[in-house]
Amino acid sequence: MLKGKSILLGITGSVAAYKSIDIIKRLRQEGASVRVIMTEASTRFVTPLSIELAVGEPVYTDMFKLPLSHVSLPAGADLFLVAPATANCIGKYAQGIADDMLSTTLLAFSGQPGRVLMAPAMNWRMYENPIFKKNLDYLASLGVQFIGPERGSLACGEEGIGRMADIEKLLESVIAALTEQDLAGENVLVTAGPTREYIDPVRYITNRSSGKMGYALAQTAGRRGAEVTLVSGPVSIRPPEGVDVILAESSRDMYTAVMDNIPMSSLFIMSAAVADFMAAEPKTSKIEKKDKFSLNLLKTTDILEAVGRLKKRPFTVGFSAETGPRIDRARKKLAAKNIDMIVFNDVSKEGSGFDVDTNEVVIIDREGERKLPVMKKVEVAAAIFDRILELKGG
Ligand code: CTP
Repeated sequence: MLKGKSILLGITGSVAAYKSIDIIKRLRQEGASVRVIMTEASTRFVTPLSIELAVGEPVYTDMFKLPLSHVSLPAGADLFLVAPATANCIGKYAQGIADDMLSTTLLAFSGQPGRVLMAPAMNWRMYENPIFKKNLDYLASLGVQFIGPERGSLACGEEGIGRMADIEKLLESVIAALTEQDLAGENVLVTAGPTREYIDPVRYITNRSSGKMGYALAQTAGRRGAEVTLVSGPVSIRPPEGVDVILAESSRDMYTAVMDNIPMSSLFIMSAAVADFMAAEPKTSKIEKKDKFSLNLLKTTDILEAVGRLKKRPFTVGFSAETGPRIDRARKKLAAKNIDMIVFNDVSKEGSGFDVDTNEVVIIDREGERKLPVMKKVEVAAAIFDRILELKGG
């Protein structure tokens, strides 16, 4: 997600400085090139050598070692991340003080507003001090983005606000800051994962959906600036950062969650694999073993169809997972469920099935069809939103 992006990372003197090694690793994994500036104080918490090993080049601490590096470094950077950011560093930046390599380079960075991200880390008393708050509010009013801090146990042994934000949260904010916000203003409702239809208190009917496609859609929409609500069936993957998650176990729970949120949504994507059947009479105690047993099943409510029938509904997208090249079935579902777009995939094909990170889809809408090659699920998600924006704009 950060291929070709150049990131300046400032590390200041907080206990959280040791986490910088992981931050560098994650940024580089996403394809970014990273250059690091450390304050003197930060070198007491983590050695420059450890950081150099993570980043693969020398770190900058001394302003006078390489003349004009405080100007050349920011000139080539797309984003400036300071993590951890101490009260001292934030205070100096707010006052325009440039008395070391990091503060001088920060001042020389003239990226667009929102391209300076800071992850505060300090004792809660410092964080809640009105002097610090004033500095923070002033910088925020200029467009500096603050990520965290979080509440929890602090280095001093106290509980309170001041812990540096989680690394994945930092990474997500960096990606969002470097992504075009073309879904800003949209309220996106996404469903994901399977549902469970209980037969008795210990057994249920379900399917193999991992939720990965729906989670990728929710993550992509959030990164592109949308407000996202994710209605999720039971899955074992971590929800994307910055997304409201509503857990829904059965198709009935999912129906209720969707209907409650549809009025606030401008875009609805039904990627969940809702169980088609539920027990006609679920038992309240465990069914005992018998030689033969038959189960009466009823059809579950078709959530997508119910949304398609609404008088006023958002732009609505469904999925059509088929076992074989049955694109005709997807086309029929688009019309029958009265929706705007359906995404067809053949789950029996390699790279397109359950629990994999890739998918091969055809996007079908009222104007035509687009066959995409095998792609990562986040790339499929991006292509779906690109097409939605084209259709909404046209
Ligand atoms: N869907 C739904 N509620 C259901 C079943 C399906 O909202 N009870 C949605 C799915 O989330 C998907 C679309 O309908 O977006 C198509 O689902 P799919 O299982 O492919 O088709 P069905 O309509 O269930 O028909 P069939 O099982 O015969 O293929």
